[in-house]
Amino acid sequence: MPQLLSVSRAARLVGISRSELQRRIRNGDLPSFEGQLRLSDLTRLYPDAHVEDTTMLEKVERIIEQALHKARRGQAAVPDMEILAARVGNLSNELASAKLEVSNLNILLEKLKSRLHRLERDPSPEVAAAGRDLLHWLEDEIATLPTLERRTEQLMAQDTFLRIVAAQVHLLPSGHDFFVQGTDTILESGLAAGLALDYGCSNGNCGKCKARLLSGETKQVRPSDYAFSESEKALGFFLMCCHTAVSDITVEAREAGSENEIPLQEITARLRKVEFPSPDVAVMSVRTPRTQRLRFLAGQSVDVAAGGLPPRRLPIASCPCDDMNLQFHVPRRAGDALSEFVFGRPEPGAPVHLQGPHGHFVLHDGPRRPLVFVAWDTGFAPVHSLIEHALSLETGLSIHLYWVAGAAGGHYQDNVCRAWADAIDGFAYTPLPARGDAVAELARRLERDTPRPAESDVFIAAPDEHLARLREALAGAGADPDHLFTEAV
Ligand code: FES
Repeated sequence: MPQLLSVSRAARLVGISRSELQRRIRNGDLPSFEGQLRLSDLTRLYPDAHVEDTTMLEKVERIIEQALHKARRGQAAVPDMEILAARVGNLSNELASAKLEVSNLNILLEKLKSRLHRLERDPSPEVAAAGRDLLHWLEDEIATLPTLERRTEQLMAQDTFLRIVAAQVHLLPSGHDFFVQGTDTILESGLAAGLALDYGCSNGNCGKCKARLLSGETKQVRPSDYAFSESEKALGFFLMCCHTAVSDITVEAREAGSENEIPLQEITARLRKVEFPSPDVAVMSVRTPRTQRLRFLAGQSVDVAAGGLPPRRLPIASCPCDDMNLQFHVPRRAGDALSEFVFGRPEPGAPVHLQGPHGHFVLHDGPRRPLVFVAWDTGFAPVHSLIEHALSLETGLSIHLYWVAGAAGGHYQDNVCRAWADAIDGFAYTPLPARGDAVAELARRLERDTPRPAESDVFIAAPDEHLARLREALAGAGADPDHLFTEAV
């Protein structure tokens, strides 16, 4: 049996995005067998993907780095002994059956050769010539195998390593895939992969992350008080917030199809810290209780109240994958209660009340078109969350970020944007000053930088007074008005 890999594993192995690999399948460059790829086809298409490949080494280093980082934070860094033993056991079984298969094929090959040798000696000259031709062909084919086999072997070794470190989760009915590392829970890993899995407490109590195991093996790594009925147990239901994946698994689980499916929540979080990347912008970090995290979609906002002052609606700047640690970018504004609270240098630990999420400024239906983001001053906050989300989805779509900022030091997280542009293929960053006719300049840039603006999804987060003109100017530059999404900040 040829070595088959899922698209996600294959993409991870050769260091490209899943969407790029799917594109090659659609173009007919790579045959797929019920969604699986043959390792030999992969080595043919990506001949440079072998053990010395720096991409692979970097990947392994990154896994080790992440593991060390987690270990330093007191979290489980690598799968525990039981999980490792189960994964090694599964791989040993696969190896044993592969060995048996190879041995059977070798026997078959030898039998074939001896039949052809017999044909070679056939009294009929035509039959003897045909036997000789076939034998030569077979020997030539066998002689050309070693180079390919060597590369395939190297990739197999890498895949085996990754299978021990991480298990793959295949979600139904959506078809989404993601990996689980260490003893991370399936819920944590799914959220980190940018998926809007259904959940509530993250703590084994509410049952909202209930899912059904269709194949593979999971292990409970967190305690749970939730009681399943006997029929649910028999059907294979389990809690994603309490289980990790031991082997590659297929799971039936609910995912939010839109922002309307996320319930409104009220949470009292605690202030962690306030930083001032510029004199006029504060970055406020808050932490929710472990048992009451905020479920939201990237780009959404919450009503934030602190210091006994009235609430103010603020976009969440952080990624939904870290639902306990939330960030907000607060501009300095006279007469604004929250701004006065934050710039008044409050003590860490102060209560911060959150109510939400609100808003529709989200990536719809899994992005499929190039993405253009326009942030104006602290409009960067929801854009930051959306970009982090888009990156975790690994869509491979091109992203262009334009950030228009007025005040001195207005691009207050310029380093973050430059790091994205340096590290990510297909990511472009254009900082623009908010002087002169910045809207017209932005439209000119969009027209110049984007070959087909009508084919992009354009997200604009800006103060209300600029939004109408921005919409008009960008539509004038070729953006499709039905694919222009705006948020007032
Ligand atoms: S999210 Fe509540 S039990 Fe898992």
